[in-house]
Amino acid sequence: MSDNFDVIVIGGGPGGYVCAIRAAQLGLKTACVESRATLGGTCLNVGCIPSKSLLNLSENYHKAKKDFVNQGIELSDVKLNIKKMMSNKDKSVQVLTKGVEFLFKKNKVTYLNGKGVLFSKNDVVVYENEKKQSYKAKNIVIATGSSPTSLSGVEIDEKNIVSSTGALSFPEVPKNLVVIGGGYIGLEMGSVWSRLGSKVTVLEYLDFITPGIDREVSNEFKKILTKQGINFKLNNKVTAVNNNNNKVVVEFTNNETKKRGSIECDKVLVSVGRKPYTEGLNLQKIGIQKDSKGRVEVNSKLQTSVKNIYAIGDVIKGPMLAHKAEEEGIAVAEILAGQAGHVNYDVIPGVIYTSPEVATVGKTEEQLKSENKSYKVGKFPFLANSRAKVNNETDGFVKILAHDKTDKVLGVHIIGPHSGDMIAEMALAMEFGASAEDIARTCHAHPTHTEAIKEAALAVDKRPIHF
Ligand code: NAI
Repeated sequence: MSDNFDVIVIGGGPGGYVCAIRAAQLGLKTACVESRATLGGTCLNVGCIPSKSLLNLSENYHKAKKDFVNQGIELSDVKLNIKKMMSNKDKSVQVLTKGVEFLFKKNKVTYLNGKGVLFSKNDVVVYENEKKQSYKAKNIVIATGSSPTSLSGVEIDEKNIVSSTGALSFPEVPKNLVVIGGGYIGLEMGSVWSRLGSKVTVLEYLDFITPGIDREVSNEFKKILTKQGINFKLNNKVTAVNNNNNKVVVEFTNNETKKRGSIECDKVLVSVGRKPYTEGLNLQKIGIQKDSKGRVEVNSKLQTSVKNIYAIGDVIKGPMLAHKAEEEGIAVAEILAGQAGHVNYDVIPGVIYTSPEVATVGKTEEQLKSENKSYKVGKFPFLANSRAKVNNETDGFVKILAHDKTDKVLGVHIIGPHSGDMIAEMALAMEFGASAEDIARTCHAHPTHTEAIKEAALAVDKRPIHF
């Protein structure tokens, strides 16, 4: 039996499902193939959503346990019910994944549950258990995402040695947790378990954390997390992870001194990056090219080397972020409908949802230096922001980088309360080509954290009011 579609999207994550909905909105007959039991991909099932649930719940617990008493709120006994916390997280995931299914019905997207395989440039075969069914498509979109990488010789069993997936579901709080890799996942999940009572050690290969983030922010971030009780061992290469049933021993060597060390712990989180997931898709047979990092190669219109097959999200180059994949999904749907789909890769925000949050958009100071661009810097600390002060959340700062001559905003880097939400204002400003002066002259409500942005913009011209 076969069925004909204008577009078949393979992968129902934030890139794929958004692409499918937009294509259907534009009148294209659309199907979306997903092999997981639920829609939403890594992000909704085992990524952004469950981790943000645990980040929120663990922060509430930590505040109730440690901070409330200093604020005149005395609770007699604060106890952790990890089972209930996990079920709260699971419910959030369930509601949101079901929500995507509802949106498919509402927009008349055909949902094909099973593993999609490319049979030819116009044929997709969907395997579900023993069943196999073929579908024809004028266009195909590969949105199969990514999977965690590990270190050579380290086997992830999702029990004692886990990826982010296992770290979302520990049945009890590990006494000692070693995190390999001080990036987005390591620091978010490390924060969760540290707040819930684990002694967390982060082993990082580089001599700084969060590569790619503005270095001044990254240094401040490390200082704040250290103050919160996370132990960092930077500039160390993990050489072995030995899993002895109930205990795990992580061995490492310092890159500079060559001194060797080891840590015994209950659990190890391996968070050293993710790799594009294209297994079993049949790309080679169809003639779809990949680059040296295993990413599907695409042109500026997101077309692969086979012109009617497109690719979006983690499976292609660029930051592995859900919202980047969504933008690409929309762009492809609009291109297929004859519109001018486009993604502005210069304005993709990034957020680390720790406490405080870290949020960035545009160029870092290091990038501007390496590009020989002349720039001005405006900085403003949350210590001098009235709202942050009354809320006892004064860690961090806003940093705005603007062109030396034109004053155009080139990058904004924030570490501080609510920065994940505040960065949207900066992304919008950059989309409209704003100058620091434009931001400085925009009225910001008082008292809000956003005033720190206005003040940083004033500081670009060396005229902040409150600092
Ligand atoms: P990452 O690329 O953010 O960080 C990996 C870290 O591991 C780097 O600091 C790297 O230097 C270090 N590393 C690599 N090999 C190592 C070794 N042998 N020993 C010690 N350290 C080593 O990768 P992560 O945290 O696994 O996240 C994967 C992807 O998921 C990222 O691309 C990220 O953008 C995305 N993500 C985004 C989130 C968000 O937007 N809030 C949350 C979670 C993940």
